[in-house]
Amino acid sequence: MNNCKIILFITFIFFFACSEKENNEDLAPKEVVDDQGEGEDTKTKYSSPIKSIISNNCLSCHSGNSPKANLDLSNYSNLKDAIENGNLLERINAETNFMPPNNKLSTSNRELISKWKDDGYLE
Ligand code: HEC
Repeated sequence: MNNCKIILFITFIFFFACSEKENNEDLAPKEVVDDQGEGEDTKTKYSSPIKSIISNNCLSCHSGNSPKANLDLSNYSNLKDAIENGNLLERINAETNFMPPNNKLSTSNRELISKWKDDGYLE
């Protein structure tokens, strides 16, 4: 009879140890999610600043009658297409052979182009 009580007691302790741990784990990730959301209400648009980033850094080669790599980036839909279906983001962020040649875009300009995509290509 005494053995039976001990087993019951151990089971009881074990149950509580487990359930307490699960509760703590449930709480932890919520705090991390709440920390995200920095700058959420500022959407990036083509009209500003994307158009001028591209025009200042790309159009000398990627526009006109015979654009380099046959890639014309001088309007909204061509630029969107080069990101959606081409390798534009890979090329501006590449370690070697990046675009524009010999003159890598600033980190903030590259982040803006990625953000324009993430925000849904607003005009
Ligand atoms: C000095 C001229 C020049 C400038 C400025 C320039 N490019 Fe290029 N670009 C080229 C040439 C030449 C190629 C083809 C050779 C290659 O892929 O490296 C090319 C290729 C590319 C390609 C690959 C196309 C494909 O079909 O694989 C992308 C994407 C690109 N450029 C994007 C850009 C972007 C975006 C900018 C501005 C941020 C830019 N380029 C600025 C000359 C330029």
